[in-house]
Amino acid sequence: MRNSKSQIEKQYYKADIFEDICKKLEQQGVDLNKVSRSDISGVDEFHVQGAAISNEIVNEIYLKDTKVLDVGCGLGGPSRMLADRFNCKVTGIDLCDEYIRTAQKLSELTGLTDKTEFIHGDALNLPFKESSFDIVWTQHVQMNIADKDKFYSEIKRVLNDEGALVYYDIFKKGKEEVNYPLPWANNASISFLESIQLVDALLDDLGFAKLQTTDQTNKAKYSLINSFEKIKRNGLPKLGLNVLMGNSTNKKLVNILKGIEENKIELQSGIYRKKSAFDNKGL
Ligand SMILES: C[S@@+](CC[C@H](N)C(=O)[O-])C[C@H]1O[C@@H](n2cnc3c(N)ncnc32)[C@H](O)[C@@H]1O
Repeated sequence: MRNSKSQIEKQYYKADIFEDICKKLEQQGVDLNKVSRSDISGVDEFHVQGAAISNEIVNEIYLKDTKVLDVGCGLGGPSRMLADRFNCKVTGIDLCDEYIRTAQKLSELTGLTDKTEFIHGDALNLPFKESSFDIVWTQHVQMNIADKDKFYSEIKRVLNDEGALVYYDIFKKGKEEVNYPLPWANNASISFLESIQLVDALLDDLGFAKLQTTDQTNKAKYSLINSFEKIKRNGLPKLGLNVLMGNSTNKKLVNILKGIEENKIELQSGIYRKKSAFDNKGL
């Protein structure tokens, strides 16, 4: 476990991410005293469909003034969106130390330190008491998690009884192996893709009730195709995910698209609540 933990940190680590982002903002003529969330949204939402999908998912849940935990928060873009748009108090947790440092600095840069906090830690051992949050939000993280039982059990433990789990994730479809590298794994040793059906059954076993799921596969496919066309026309974005994935960005994104086109992976967003005593009695 320790071994796979450090491999995951290595997968995502890049030195001086915040400084790099600031340099690129200045090159685009952005005044560092007036940085808005949209100035950095190309880099701080590390999932297929970027900021657009986060902004869409929030329409499905009631969020005003809620306490949110963003598990595997990365650079914290979705956390800042939830804090800024809905006045939520958001805690982000991530295994990658440099991402947490960057997330904190980006919240300072965008004036959102009073509503966001970022903690270096492991999703499999959340440092929070039972029932601490109204919403647990997680996007593109569980693909790195072998012990899905523990991952979702920890989420359930820290959710309050009326709380909801909101996810947007990538799942395995069929039996064929995907091609690497992928954004979350350079090789199969830290990639733990499972099917939607398996995760859904696990959530049910753990005491979650499904409220809704949305197939995101087609939209993800066209979002990737659009990005490739844009890059062909205009070159790499000034401030995009290439800041995090470097030279392997194109290969990794092409492999996700290939996985979708070859029916090896699919994407889904979902909202689950904790089952109540009534659910358990079949009422
Ligand atoms: C693809 S990024 C997604 C980041 C963020 N959720 C977003 O959508 O912008 C996956 C993130 O999951 C984090 N991660 C992977 N395994 C983790 C674990 N066991 N505990 C906490 N974070 C983890 C990684 O460090 C990385 O930041």
